Amino acid sequence: AGNRRTTERSFATPEAIAAAAQCLRRGGLVAMPTETVYGLAADATSDEAVAGIYAAKGRPTFNPLIAHVGGVESAKEQARFDADAERLARAFWPGPLTLVLPAAATCRVSLLARAGLDSIALRAPDHPVARALIEAAGRPLAAPSANASGHVSPTDADHVLADLDGRIDWILDAGRCRHGLESTIVACLDGGPTLLRPGALPREAIEAALGRPLATRAAGAPDAPRAPGQLVSHYAPHARLRLAARAVSPEEAALDFNGALAGAPCRARLDLSPRGNLVEAAANLFAWLRALDQSGASIIATAPIPASGLGAAINDRLRRAAAPRDL
Ligand code: TXA
Ligand code: MG
Repeated sequence: AGNRRTTERSFATPEAIAAAAQCLRRGGLVAMPTETVYGLAADATSDEAVAGIYAAKGRPTFNPLIAHVGGVESAKEQARFDADAERLARAFWPGPLTLVLPAAATCRVSLLARAGLDSIALRAPDHPVARALIEAAGRPLAAPSANASGHVSPTDADHVLADLDGRIDWILDAGRCRHGLESTIVACLDGGPTLLRPGALPREAIEAALGRPLATRAAGAPDAPRAPGQLVSHYAPHARLRLAARAVSPEEAALDFNGALAGAPCRARLDLSPRGNLVEAAANLFAWLRALDQSGASIIATAPIPASGLGAAINDRLRRAAAPRDL
């Protein structure tokens, strides 16, 4: 409720792709076919547009999203490629391989799409419609699979509409997806190429290109995957979080919502949404957390956030950020 809109379904003609790209540039949501599964695309450089993805999917948590690009050249504006990453991108892009890499200083992908992390997931899809849409939008597109949270990934336009009709602006219909399985995810951070998610590109093909085996995230490791989407260690502020605070003290910083903590003296105060809008609050969450962390306060008091809609995801992320850590 609250974000009903008319969903335009069109065959992926050049005219429809151009119109959908316009829609993306204005912050809209477009379901696009890729060779793996349909993705729910938004302008990856806009926190507000990315917040719309989480709202439409009804995601209970903010998992980081894949930024879809045209190829290695544009990917290099967003991330740092080591020799392994370069080799894998040259071997398999465009195609069903996602690389998780350190974000570049020039990275324009929204902190919300990255879930506040210093790494970024990038993929150049091999589907003519996705490629044309990225090109026409002129920016990276953040896109998780175009299904409601908890449902299986959609491999045709009917699947997408069954979950998202009335919640997104466009769907570009190009029939069935060739692979019908999500991309394989490999991290090239420090510690050698590591398989994070098996997918449409076989592990053997990746190992043949690398000339050595891929590491696998060890079961039982602190951030071992328990389910898809839990593959990452999450952004954690240095400051301690005091949740659902009704008041703030002078030495604390305040992460406010709807002006609840306004007026009291404190070290710094940033309001996630002065008008109490949860989509706006989600868009600001990671950027404001980082800024308050840099204020030097050792405690960040966070205002109560409603539990409805994106509030559930915001509260989930704040609880994780507040949990004691032994890192
Ligand atoms: O085939 C695919 O990969 C499809 C199409 C649309 O491209 N997309 C897709 O996205 O499956 P999604 O959001 O359903 O899955 C993305 C996965 C999540 O499990 C997320 O945790 C992981 O990528 N991921 C994204 N950024 C990451 C990062 N910085 N570090 C580790 N994992 C990351
Ligand atoms: Mg998914």
